[in-house]
Amino acid sequence: MRNIRRSLIGLGLAGVMTLTLGAQQKGGKKAQSLYERLGGKPAITAVVDEFVARVAADAKINRYFAAAAGDPARLAAFKGKLVDQICQASGGPCTYTGKNMKEAHAGMGITGAEFDALVGDLVGALDKFKVPEREKGELLGVLGPMKSDIATK
Ligand code: HEM
Repeated sequence: MRNIRRSLIGLGLAGVMTLTLGAQQKGGKKAQSLYERLGGKPAITAVVDEFVARVAADAKINRYFAAAAGDPARLAAFKGKLVDQICQASGGPCTYTGKNMKEAHAGMGITGAEFDALVGDLVGALDKFKVPEREKGELLGVLGPMKSDIATK
């Protein structure tokens, strides 16, 4: 029994060391999460504000957001959910409590082209804040796979 316990403790320690080493870069520096590299919640909030402003001005898709755009409380809640979703998906300390992407967009009839237009608005916002290619690519890589749940038409 004692041996089993000892080997379990050994395995636990090995696991912790592997995780810790896994988060180290070659120079001994701790690898930063995408969330940290983006600049944390203030930077994500600034990007989301700019992104939503671009969506609201985008004639290809803004009709979807007419109700939210006309209701400040609804708009604030929507932006807050986007911030939490991006924060959580990039490894930050947030919990997204909104609907999943299938439920959130059910029945809207969003097309692939409309999804691409929205991603274009996000890229515009990321470029405005000079988010580097690596971080931009990683964030789009997290959002891209959501397309099949969102664009159903
Ligand atoms: C990667 C792409 C997208 C992400 C990450 C995303 C994310 C979200 C999130 C987090 C919500 C809030 C869900 C909730 O209330 O619980 C939402 C709602 C919504 N989304 Fe998306 N979405 C995306 C693409 C799109 C596209 C392409 C359209 C339309 C062209 C769209 C239209 C909407 C609308 C109309 C709402 C409801 C807003 C309101 O009135 O409160 N979304 N989306």
